[in-house]
Amino acid sequence: MNRRRFLAASGAAAISLGWPKQASWAAPGGSRESMRVLFFTDIHARVEWDTPEAMSSAAHQMNEQRADLALCGGDCITDGFQSSRTAVAHRWQAYRKHLRDQLSPRLLTVIGNHDFVGAIPEDGSEPESDPRAAFREELGIPRTFSSSEAAGYHIILLDSVQVTGDALKYRGYVDEAQLAWLRGELAHVRPETPIVLATHVPLLTSFFQATAGHEQAAPRNRVVVNNREVLDCFAKHRLHLVLQGHLHVNEMLRWRGTTFITGGAVCGQWWRGRWHGTDAGFGVLTLRPDRVDWEYKEIGWVPRRP
Ligand SMILES: [Fe+2]
Repeated sequence: MNRRRFLAASGAAAISLGWPKQASWAAPGGSRESMRVLFFTDIHARVEWDTPEAMSSAAHQMNEQRADLALCGGDCITDGFQSSRTAVAHRWQAYRKHLRDQLSPRLLTVIGNHDFVGAIPEDGSEPESDPRAAFREELGIPRTFSSSEAAGYHIILLDSVQVTGDALKYRGYVDEAQLAWLRGELAHVRPETPIVLATHVPLLTSFFQATAGHEQAAPRNRVVVNNREVLDCFAKHRLHLVLQGHLHVNEMLRWRGTTFITGGAVCGQWWRGRWHGTDAGFGVLTLRPDRVDWEYKEIGWVPRRP
């Protein structure tokens, strides 16, 4: 992006957005070691409207944060779910070339609904027998849920999408096999070890109550419907932070000592600009022993989607 466009974008954001995009809160029970984490989500990679340029800019700005770890909240590409492998191969390529391969920190990625490929193809091609396979192959991972360690934190990545084939096509759900894995995994994690969990579909959100009213139930393809079952697994553990994607807005909730952050979107409103007040951007978190600093960095992209 040229400098004039960038200034126009950041100026517009400064005038119209009054609420802070930074927060810092007491969070006792963190690791002794501090860790700087990027959380970026909902990239929706494609090749139209100069969006590869936006991805490169985002990668560059993320690298400037000198993070120790990057967590991606999913929806790396656009519309894999209803497309064949060949139809979206160029989107994976664009994502890889302009963002993933450009990132300096270690990267862990959760699967989003758009990252399923060939689940319910609309072009008449045969559905893939395993619509997660393209994502696993692309990332070189054996499974779409996993855990690892970073700076004294236990990191858990969940697969929060289940293909249903009904009118909504999928729902947010953590299936029984994954829950069994999660319970087994947590049996080996000490109760005091701080846990950071990443999921594409939110486990907890007030987005639908804020935008549609208090009596509005969240659609089952927008939230994890068995969220309580998932969260109950952590009853005897220190669930420090939950990082969520899918809704493309910034939101922060505190519930029983856990902070839930829904982390905006690299593509903003699917490359159309701001969505419910959240611009295209990514989050940066500094996890300290007794507090967390968070900031949402706008990438300053002026949308070119007609
Ligand atoms: Fe998305």
